[in-house]
Amino acid sequence: MAEFVGAIDQGTTSSRFMIFDHSGNEVGRHQLEHEQILPRAGWVEHNPVEIIERTNACLQSALNATGLSASDLVALGVTNQRETTVVWNRRTGRPYYNAIVWQDTRTDRIATALEREGKGEIIHRKAGLPPATYFSGGKIQWILENVDGVREAAENGDAIFGNTDTWVIWNLTGGVQGGRHVTDVTNASRTMLMNLETLDWDDELLGLFGIPRRMLPEIQPSSSVDGFGSTLAHGALGGEVRITGDLGDQQAATVGQVCFAPGEAKNTYGTGNFMLLNTGTELVRSESGLLSTVCYKFGDEPVVYALEGSIAVTGSAVQWLRDQLGIISGAAQSEQLARQVADNGGVYFVPAFSGLFAPYWRSDARGAIVGLSRYNTNAHLARATLEAICYQSRDVTEAMSKDSGVALDVLKVDGGVTLNELCMQIQADVLGVPVSRPVVAETTALGAAYAAGLAVGFWTSTDELRENWNEARRWEPTWDEAQRDEGYAKWKKAVERTLDWVD
Ligand code: G3P
Repeated sequence: MAEFVGAIDQGTTSSRFMIFDHSGNEVGRHQLEHEQILPRAGWVEHNPVEIIERTNACLQSALNATGLSASDLVALGVTNQRETTVVWNRRTGRPYYNAIVWQDTRTDRIATALEREGKGEIIHRKAGLPPATYFSGGKIQWILENVDGVREAAENGDAIFGNTDTWVIWNLTGGVQGGRHVTDVTNASRTMLMNLETLDWDDELLGLFGIPRRMLPEIQPSSSVDGFGSTLAHGALGGEVRITGDLGDQQAATVGQVCFAPGEAKNTYGTGNFMLLNTGTELVRSESGLLSTVCYKFGDEPVVYALEGSIAVTGSAVQWLRDQLGIISGAAQSEQLARQVADNGGVYFVPAFSGLFAPYWRSDARGAIVGLSRYNTNAHLARATLEAICYQSRDVTEAMSKDSGVALDVLKVDGGVTLNELCMQIQADVLGVPVSRPVVAETTALGAAYAAGLAVGFWTSTDELRENWNEARRWEPTWDEAQRDEGYAKWKKAVERTLDWVD
């Protein structure tokens, strides 16, 4: 008898499949990493075929490990790294180019030109976003302009676009044999191509990037009984399961953290950090460098919007300590190393590897380590890296308080870095408010499962979902006001040093 919901989380560094029961508890999972392809400075790509293979392998392994089968799943939700752009041929199923990842900065000239020509205001007004390399529109334009044959194929309907949710769903539902070419409102809101009020692709925005409308997927609600089709009987799940949820990973985490009321916010610490504040059915336009975005839309209910503070480099700064500098052997060791010192020894690290996202939106910024003296060691750098994660989140909370007029009273957190106790303590110290982590820390996959389960009545209301949320751990601030102010002032000064670096 079917009594579980499955969720695919196609993320930046890995794909995973998780299975949840009615209480929102995990009953199984499998996760596989994929290659980060870095062909040039600033370029980041993934192989879309590898992503599908790994996703399928996760589905099979999780079912095998739990002894469950497709018939035990009432529904399937999909969540994904947002903005990452795949263009493929609907007849052959082959991508024209690697996926261009959200962190990739190759489209900086496209973004700068839009701003210079005064088009930034149109994008901001209609799509709620600043023109930036981050979003999909410029990435699609780059593929149309730089990969042979794509423009003609796009005009005649053979070349189609999707973020990785669309790519995964198209493949799971049949691929070249009639796969569904669909996305949801949250993912569409990250392209610079969707009008946030009409929730439809906008011809004026498409015109700015020269993108033919027929390339684009059909936009569905995030939770929908028949919007996304079903997996194939002979596919990786070995049976037909309805896909009834689809939303970008940060919006999924907001749902998984049950932030259903206006004013509720969460911060997810992954490759980057993403703080989302539910603003309800009201579309709030930021004056402080935040994005206006769709939070979720459940079936026929009104759309819910959010303000978002996106930070490109947080957990990946810890990976940089491991992979490029070789000063730690794993993420957990960053905590041990940082604990060897009582403070940052005057060192501030601004990991502006992809420029700076919220609230600065400066693609001309590059990373800097400042305040070094002969006294400093690897331990200070490790501590400065953890502090950078927390100070960037403070920048975003400052902007949110300005935009919403409401000061944060507690910060709900999730994601891999929240296992780092020291980092979470520093976060509470830097913000001056408690930080709270739920029992089920996999809120992204959980949110996709919730969206899917709501569509089929497995869960009947968001109130029922609230009952599943329980706090596992809380960190209280220990710094005094003077310490907090001094640290933040130094951080702001360090940020100044990173600007105007790229011509
Ligand atoms: O906007 C990018 C974000 O969706 C990526 O999230 O967790 O895959 O790093 P993550």
